[in-house]
Amino acid sequence: MPQPLTIGMFQTMGLSGSWRLPENTTPTFLTLDYWTGLAKRSEAAGVDFLFIADDFGYPLIHGEVSPTAVEHALLFPRGDPSMVMGAMAAVTDSLGLVVTMSTSVERPPALARRMATLDHLANGRMGWNVVTGAGQNASARLFGEPMRNHDDRYTAAEDYLTLTMTLWEGSWEDDALRVDREAGVYADGSKVHEIHHEGPFYTADGVFTTPPSPQRTPLLFQAGASTKGRDLAARYAEAVFLAAEPDAVRDQIADIRARAVAAGREPDAIKFLVAGTFIVAPTTAEATALRERITAFVTTEDAGVQYAFFTGLNLLDMDPSKPLASTESEQGRTNIERFTGDGVTAAPTVAEILEEFRVNGVMGDPFIGTAAEAVDQVESLMAHTGADGLLVQPGPTGDSASFFDLVVPELRERGLLAPLPDAETGDAHPPTLRERLFPGGGPHLPATHPGHTLRVGRS
Ligand SMILES: Cc1cc2nc3c(=O)[nH]c(=O)nc-3n(C[C@H](O)[C@H](O)[C@H](O)COP(=O)(O)O)c2cc1C
Repeated sequence: MPQPLTIGMFQTMGLSGSWRLPENTTPTFLTLDYWTGLAKRSEAAGVDFLFIADDFGYPLIHGEVSPTAVEHALLFPRGDPSMVMGAMAAVTDSLGLVVTMSTSVERPPALARRMATLDHLANGRMGWNVVTGAGQNASARLFGEPMRNHDDRYTAAEDYLTLTMTLWEGSWEDDALRVDREAGVYADGSKVHEIHHEGPFYTADGVFTTPPSPQRTPLLFQAGASTKGRDLAARYAEAVFLAAEPDAVRDQIADIRARAVAAGREPDAIKFLVAGTFIVAPTTAEATALRERITAFVTTEDAGVQYAFFTGLNLLDMDPSKPLASTESEQGRTNIERFTGDGVTAAPTVAEILEEFRVNGVMGDPFIGTAAEAVDQVESLMAHTGADGLLVQPGPTGDSASFFDLVVPELRERGLLAPLPDAETGDAHPPTLRERLFPGGGPHLPATHPGHTLRVGRS
């Protein structure tokens, strides 16, 4: 029997790419019902977690907001996804809840407190996608700050992460919380410690005022695949999101795994999840027609605007018959490195990049066809890349309805999705997200993780 995959559902707090389809649900993204309904549906399907991506940026063209982005809802609009995590926690018991919070936006103690609070409310089911932020040019402009250069953002991210982990791990000893009403002792003053952090970007002295949550440090995700991004992932991430062509995904996984082992971590310390879109229908012909319907909505200009968001490069100003005219950018690098050729195959032309971005965006090819065909494609991708699972993109309806209806039964039938807990005998204490992804390892950071050494009073 194959190993069950780790499966997460991808969302943004905005519109999905196919929002113009009448059956697309994402125009209701600012209602609680959208999020609580989706969380309940995800839990009932037995997937591991629901993830909401985030960014303060949006596409800039020639230094200003792209009117096409506003008109066509391209990486725009956005709500604040951390706000709906508590609502989703309230209507679920075991589903993991993962959210992006950028290390380029707010100061570390604010993020640390919000995340610790959520991990309490969700009984240890929170994950944090640690990113330096994709749309940095627009974001920095909006915040009235100079944009930090790409590699400095990653150096700052490491400092940021170390400080947040110090707050979560290093302030409260395990038995500091007493809540002894008779003695009038809430917490043992000798066991709540000041932390002192002096890093290249952040300094902090003081106590963390939120008692330790079930996981202390939320499960750490990472998503940038540039060289610097992979390096951060190798040292700190417990799960990594990847999106690229199969050979590139395979190479990225091998590279991150090797770097993780070199950093003293176990080879299986990181779950690698490939982002993929399912376009499934009862017949292959219907699925193909659906794909055509969806891609017909996306213009070449839309593709250029989205590429500008991820890379800061304006393909629409370049010669379409030539490879990228420039690969210099302080924006995200994943989607520049993706199209620069690998020394074996030639770099694609600008026209080819635009067409690839028009039909697939930042993802690789979709899983397409009947449910059985799509799951065959999943199995061969997993075998080819060595990935541990999937991050399921929203699909045509935006709420992954056809994934839940058609693909989930097929995955379960093949043993690729863990069986649902028996409703009668079900787990009275569902595991934390860390234990769900790494059974038997306990709720806290493992001993080989650098955050483990920050733990105060550890035995
Ligand atoms: C599945 C997936 C989800 C991602 N989610 C986010 C996100 O929520 N916010 C964000 O800023 N970047 C996200 N990224 C990463 C960006 O695409 C981008 O690569 C990164 O922020 C810039 O770093 P880089 O220079 O390492 O590419 C995601 C990437 C993938 C593959």
